[in-house]
Amino acid sequence: MTQSAPQTSSPSVGQPVDRVDGLLKVTGQARYPAEFPFERMAHAVIVQSTIARGSIKTVETAAAEAAPGVLAVLTHLNAPRLHSSPPSFVVGSAPPPPLQAQHISYHGQHIAVVVAETLEQATFAATLITVDYQEETPLLRLDDPHAQVLDNAFPDVVRGEPEAALARAPVRVEATYTTPTQHHNPLAPAATIASWDGETLTLHDSTQGVYNTRAQLAMMLGLEITHVRVLAPFIGGAFGSGLRPWPHVVLAAISARQVGRPVKLVLTREQMYTTTGYRPRSVQRVALGATRKGQLLATIHEGTEPVAMNDDFREGLTRATALLYASPHLRTAYRQVRLNVAVPTWMRGPGESTGLFALESALDELAYALDIDPLELRLRNDTPVHPQSGQPWSSRKLRECFELGAQAFGWERRPRAPRSLRDGHELIGWGVSGSYYPYNRQPAEARVRLLADGSVLIQTSATDIGPGTATILAQIASDALGLPLARIRCELGDSNSPVSPNQGGSMLAASAGSAVHATAATLLEQTLALVQEDEYSPLCGASRKMILTGDGYIALKSDPTRRESYTAILQRHGLDLLESTGRAAPGDEAQRFGTGIFGAKFVEVRVDAELGRIRVSRVLSVIAAGRILNPKTARSQVIGGTVGGIGMALLEQTRMDETTGRIVNANFADYAIPVHADIPPLEVLFVEEPDLELNPLGVKGVGEVAIVGIAPAIANAIYHATGRRVRDLPITMDNLL
Ligand code: MOS
Repeated sequence: MTQSAPQTSSPSVGQPVDRVDGLLKVTGQARYPAEFPFERMAHAVIVQSTIARGSIKTVETAAAEAAPGVLAVLTHLNAPRLHSSPPSFVVGSAPPPPLQAQHISYHGQHIAVVVAETLEQATFAATLITVDYQEETPLLRLDDPHAQVLDNAFPDVVRGEPEAALARAPVRVEATYTTPTQHHNPLAPAATIASWDGETLTLHDSTQGVYNTRAQLAMMLGLEITHVRVLAPFIGGAFGSGLRPWPHVVLAAISARQVGRPVKLVLTREQMYTTTGYRPRSVQRVALGATRKGQLLATIHEGTEPVAMNDDFREGLTRATALLYASPHLRTAYRQVRLNVAVPTWMRGPGESTGLFALESALDELAYALDIDPLELRLRNDTPVHPQSGQPWSSRKLRECFELGAQAFGWERRPRAPRSLRDGHELIGWGVSGSYYPYNRQPAEARVRLLADGSVLIQTSATDIGPGTATILAQIASDALGLPLARIRCELGDSNSPVSPNQGGSMLAASAGSAVHATAATLLEQTLALVQEDEYSPLCGASRKMILTGDGYIALKSDPTRRESYTAILQRHGLDLLESTGRAAPGDEAQRFGTGIFGAKFVEVRVDAELGRIRVSRVLSVIAAGRILNPKTARSQVIGGTVGGIGMALLEQTRMDETTGRIVNANFADYAIPVHADIPPLEVLFVEEPDLELNPLGVKGVGEVAIVGIAPAIANAIYHATGRRVRDLPITMDNLL
């Protein structure tokens, strides 16, 4: 019988393969943080302040303590003293630990936790706690003259002489844009189960970074880092709300220690609006000056956001403005105002999704002022080098995104004048926007274990909040080892596994992906080392350069019929497994190149001419994000981000009562998010640009760039449809009547 020569099986990377954990998820076998069973588990319910500023004079807990089933009530009077985590921008510092003082700095601050035998008993007992406050007038408005303004929270950029250049520019636009507070609202509310074994704490938690949560909890509780284990194998979404260890996680931990039993704490939907961060509102001023031919001369972008009283969260609100388009004269400025608000955090496309709403709307206004096609205006201001550093781009296919998108969308058929497309009672408009998110990568480690049955287990602490991390890591290992995807398993979200960064900032594919890539390569070398001097092996004498892999075999390139399977090699050497733990870290590429993830967004809207009702009827996203590891999961990320962008543009808005600081629409009835009926068919195109300057996989990341640019493209389409420029999100029908 002739043996067919093994080819390298067709590569898995780049294929639209199904999620390796899809079946687990849809059959309910995947366990989410609140679903881990423990014996004698108690339930914790938090109590929150009903004032935004002041202090607790008295807190009455006796009735709650006497209520049926109650095991403990913790307030600032009896809670253990905790250490503050040091502020750290990069890893997502924890907000101040809860229950440490009587002081109140926002409405919804955690002031007590009730632990009981059942959730119902804890919920009831929590209602029996009464608090007497010393109330002060809260600072709640961005323009409050008493509020402290921080003017160095994020690096400002200045090029040339922006004010003088703006004054000289023959064509100018200038406007103020606002965006509201928005909340992540993942499908699963955040949950924590804390259990202690002596001085060792285990947490099941809805975190996007188990190492980060472990480190920060250990610090706050004064524990050795090895005495905390954090597990998050599956999470029901997050969008950034899981990037910081929040007070309720700490409350679960101290409650469990207090009652000497495992404690489960699940936030209600309402509590998610004060407890797990949000996208801060913004007020932004953009001024653009240009030549009559549409060359930008001056760009000024100033933005202000709130910051909580005892926190340092900040985001790159104006960051993209300094590099997305050429502008010889430029100034960006980011200001924060300290207010009595809950602690914000990163939310999908943090900084850019908000900042580019202003810049990309202003560019559209400039295009009309110049009578130049808005897409053409962007192309005229493309920049072959990073406009600030003058360095070349590692890759930047923004122009290609615009051009491919224009062709696919039919942009050339777009009449320039607003209100010139109509279908019956509907006004039709087409809008465009550029999109950008920074390329990020951090060091990461992975363990790759080859078992005697020829299967592979990948372990890294990375979490998967939904994008498909397990799938792309399995694909990478499949190709690196030449083993079928079906033989590869991935265990994620365990702080006992090798370190991965947070799943945030679109960095995990490049970070953990590179680690798995490098570690799998080492494992192949280890396997080969077993047979290199093994006279019984057909691979005897073969070096790495002389072999190829596929279908579970290692074979000689020169004669692929000379081959041996991984299972045969391990078996003959009496090995149950072979494993490697490896690390991959970025080099100096980010210092040598301008980097970034780019895209172009095209939107069609239909606006009812009489009723002002807005419908998004087409969206095309064109994304250049390096090598696309899996077009199916990447597309899912982009359409998910697009839905978020439609929500941002037309629906989502957290409303705070500016007298009391209370959020008044903390529920799905009053905080509107898109439903299926709001979403048209969404198209996604990728401009392939494997970027090997950045990492060996050539990958960037698609999670954040997915949402960036959708809101301005919608606003620009609405202007094109109606002639109404709406500069305040969300855009609702009353803006168009
Ligand atoms: Mo993303 S906002 O970094 O989860």
